[in-house]
Amino acid sequence: MDSLYDALRRYRDRGVTPMHMPGHKRNTALFSMENPYGLDVTEIDGFDNLHDAHGILKEGMERAARLWGADKSWFLVNGSSCGILAAVCACTGWGNEILVARNCHKAVYHAIYQNNLRPHYLYPERIPGFEAAGGVSPEAVEAALEVHPGVKLVVLTSPTYEGVLSDVKAIADTAHRHGVPLFVDEAHGAHLGLAAGFPKSAVRCGADLVVQSVHKTLPSLTQTAVLHQNGSLVPAGCVERQLAIYETSSPSYLLMASIDRCVRFLQEHGEEAFALYRENLDRFARETASLARLTLLGRGPEEQPGRHGIFALDPSKLVVGSFGAGMTGPSLMAGLRKRGIELEMAAKSYAIAMTSLCDTRESLSRLAAALRELDGAAGSGEQPAAAAALPPLCPERLLTIREAESLPGRVLPIGEAIGKISRETVTAYPPGIPLLVPGERVDAAFAEVAARLLEAGVSLGGAGEAGDLRIEVVEES
Ligand SMILES: Cc1ncc(COP(=O)(O)O)c(C=O)c1O
Repeated sequence: MDSLYDALRRYRDRGVTPMHMPGHKRNTALFSMENPYGLDVTEIDGFDNLHDAHGILKEGMERAARLWGADKSWFLVNGSSCGILAAVCACTGWGNEILVARNCHKAVYHAIYQNNLRPHYLYPERIPGFEAAGGVSPEAVEAALEVHPGVKLVVLTSPTYEGVLSDVKAIADTAHRHGVPLFVDEAHGAHLGLAAGFPKSAVRCGADLVVQSVHKTLPSLTQTAVLHQNGSLVPAGCVERQLAIYETSSPSYLLMASIDRCVRFLQEHGEEAFALYRENLDRFARETASLARLTLLGRGPEEQPGRHGIFALDPSKLVVGSFGAGMTGPSLMAGLRKRGIELEMAAKSYAIAMTSLCDTRESLSRLAAALRELDGAAGSGEQPAAAAALPPLCPERLLTIREAESLPGRVLPIGEAIGKISRETVTAYPPGIPLLVPGERVDAAFAEVAARLLEAGVSLGGAGEAGDLRIEVVEES
């Protein structure tokens, strides 16, 4: 078998078009590095200390804060995942209540586990046709904070994997009226607010803490991210304390250098790069205007701002609905793979192409041409069996995640598990959003959604295969 290094080189040499992260898109004409072994150092004299920065790293983080508009920013080398753990734990104590959008990334659930938190969930509406989560409305946040005055933190994802933004400004105002900080997972939005033609970032909309994966949508190496703080609602020192726990004490200088280079590139060339990027996206829109069966999120009446909690859509995400062409998301993704294009992910009814300013006019035109070809070959466009809408999920919470996991469990076929308390997390991957978490009751709606996702080819991690769904439940004494 190839070594991992050889496999990577062979894959690179195949010349597949990357419509996925990292955002540098392997565009080595724009970004490259010398042999990394010659540059890989640790905290030697002159190179500062990430966990106690006073020199070159402090300056780099201050430059990042100026670029994104934060009072303070931290470089992260363990992705947004580590920033999420640090941010949630910085704002909460053991057993606290928090208000969380249910479509949060699994790292938020890990933070809930860490502090044994009691979450109250906000369930975003689904966008018809796509069934992707819409936005969280400020009214829903207001109503939940009225009912749960003990909440210590509001957490939401904006933009989502699909590029749906919530009205962060109004939500921040609402949370602050209740004296509660707002943490926004903007892992998919590091490119926002930096140029015309893209929505504003949560950093400039009043959020107290915001995490961004620089590696997802900007030219920077995988695992690089930034955490930003604004205002004084989160006391000084709390974030640093948690970063000391969740982030490695041996941060890679290559990763930090790649964030720093990305920030400098954006300061010096961001305007032209974003203008060209916007032009390429506009051309893609023209080149796909003739699609008759495949649909692009944002073009239909249900996907306009004001519908289903949508405040804005991020134009960098090309979310292609497949059902009209008689395909599931995974089959659309496979069809593009055969044409030399690798997408970021496929859900039941759509697949996502992630773009960035490192995409070229050619890469986007190649995608447009492949979509036109699949659209033309799609026949009558009869909907696949998986097309019927999924029932909403809102499982009852009986125990915290930590309480459920501390109890003995046993694995049961789904038919026997209904009515019992789950001891495991069942996540549709990607995008990694849990359908069921430990401590919640397994119900018939979950069983139906899980079975139909498996049938449509969506992975549910360890929960088995289509027709053989199994789940670990808390053993009853
Ligand atoms: C919404 C969201 N938040 C957070 C993360 C974690 O980001 P990272 O991979 O930078 O740790 C992801 C990863 O896909 C994500 O989709």
